[in-house]
Amino acid sequence: MSPKAKTVYRCTNCGADHPKWAGRCDICGEWNSLVEEMAVPRASSTASGRRVQGQRSMAEGGSVAPTPRLRDIKSSAGRRLKTGIKEFDFVLGGGIVPGSMVLVGGEPGIGKSTLLLQVAGRLQELGHSTLYVSGEESALQVKLRAERLHGSAEDVALLNETLLETIIATAGSQRLDAIVIDSIQTVFTSDLEGAPGNVGQVRECAARLMRFAKETETTVFAVGHVTKGGGIAGPKTLEHIVDTVLYFEGEGMLEHRVLRATKNRFGSVDEIGVFRMTEEGLIAVENPSELFLGDRLHNSSGSAVTALLEGTRPVLIEIQGLAAKAGYGTPQRVSTGYDARRLALLLAVLDKRAGLSFSQLDVFLNVVGGVRMQEPAGDLAVASALASSVYDRPVANSAIFLGEVGLGGEIRPVSQTERRLGEAGKMGMTTAYMAERGIPKRGTRGIEIVGVRTINDLFRQLFNG
Ligand code: TYD
Ligand code: MG
Repeated sequence: MSPKAKTVYRCTNCGADHPKWAGRCDICGEWNSLVEEMAVPRASSTASGRRVQGQRSMAEGGSVAPTPRLRDIKSSAGRRLKTGIKEFDFVLGGGIVPGSMVLVGGEPGIGKSTLLLQVAGRLQELGHSTLYVSGEESALQVKLRAERLHGSAEDVALLNETLLETIIATAGSQRLDAIVIDSIQTVFTSDLEGAPGNVGQVRECAARLMRFAKETETTVFAVGHVTKGGGIAGPKTLEHIVDTVLYFEGEGMLEHRVLRATKNRFGSVDEIGVFRMTEEGLIAVENPSELFLGDRLHNSSGSAVTALLEGTRPVLIEIQGLAAKAGYGTPQRVSTGYDARRLALLLAVLDKRAGLSFSQLDVFLNVVGGVRMQEPAGDLAVASALASSVYDRPVANSAIFLGEVGLGGEIRPVSQTERRLGEAGKMGMTTAYMAERGIPKRGTRGIEIVGVRTINDLFRQLFNG
């Protein structure tokens, strides 16, 4: 692309284009909404270079494109590449789809580079050629990481480059099965003026990599940094461009990490994979419940277990609550892994419906293992952990709690009870407290089910007697 491509600044709010950047769109009045874009999109870039020169159509610059029957199109279904890193394959929906683009987001230091280097290493070992493009770290730094992985990534080819045109030309000159871009925020195209990492650059680079993936059937993995708000930096549109979005989460200090699919054109979303970060890289954890319950204390107050559904997979999780006498001022409410507003609501319900006052108490709530509880099924365990802490009476270690707590203190059934109870049984739980209405008709072997209607009802059974 010899002459500099023309660019415009488009308002992401109203779509108007402007020849120059400005802090405010003078059409719709939105601040900070202008993003640099190519003025002549698509047609002049890579795609047309490959297109066979057919008859000119009425539309200027257009050419006649082939329109094969769907039947005649080669299907790549079932041609998924398995990495053998079980949890990774599982989250993707059963392996890597050739020609797809996967965005891997997560906070700095969580292990994105480690994960993708391991994935590249495994693919290479299995005979699939891979290229690791690092724009963030020097070749030596990547080498050091590979050494920690005991040489399992030694055969991966490395490219230290940030200019998109060079990356695509290099990748295009080899027959690759997968390419890792670490990270999308460091890559830039010379067609746009903005600095690497700005919205226009990130979007354009992602779109071109996506096209590259589709045209060459190369799978593109791109690392994306996460902003303070938790989204992948750059525009939300980045998530719309790619096929699959994976988030790598975890609490900084803890060793395990959760990989979660939030978008997947080739599989179901909200599936999770669990890993442990060790001295020798990430190791897939095949039984997450065991990991999450592993360090549980016996007979300690303020702890209760629930079964959450992570995608299709039930996982037992411990909830810890601590209610301690508050110092001066407003008591603290600190919640990890559980929505803070939901906690406030639950505390109000406990006060009003069960007579448990927290107004003089600091409240700390922790969903163990850096897991984020996203469904209300865990409410009952949260309420029980908090009540257990206030009464300073432990609940049975082998009990699990399933239920949503309503504003009236009533307990509501949760979805897919059988699945959750099944996992609880496997993990040696013997009692399940749950909404009376949600008790499954078919009995569950090995687990005694106690139906409860309200939190009052539950607390009477747990703590009086
Ligand atoms: P990294 O993959 O660099 O994170 P990201 O790319 O998401 O920023 O991994 C960061 C952390 O992982 C770093 O603190 C070191 C640690 N680590 C291990 O504990 N064991 C290992 O084998 C490797 C490679 C990294
Ligand atoms: Mg990194």
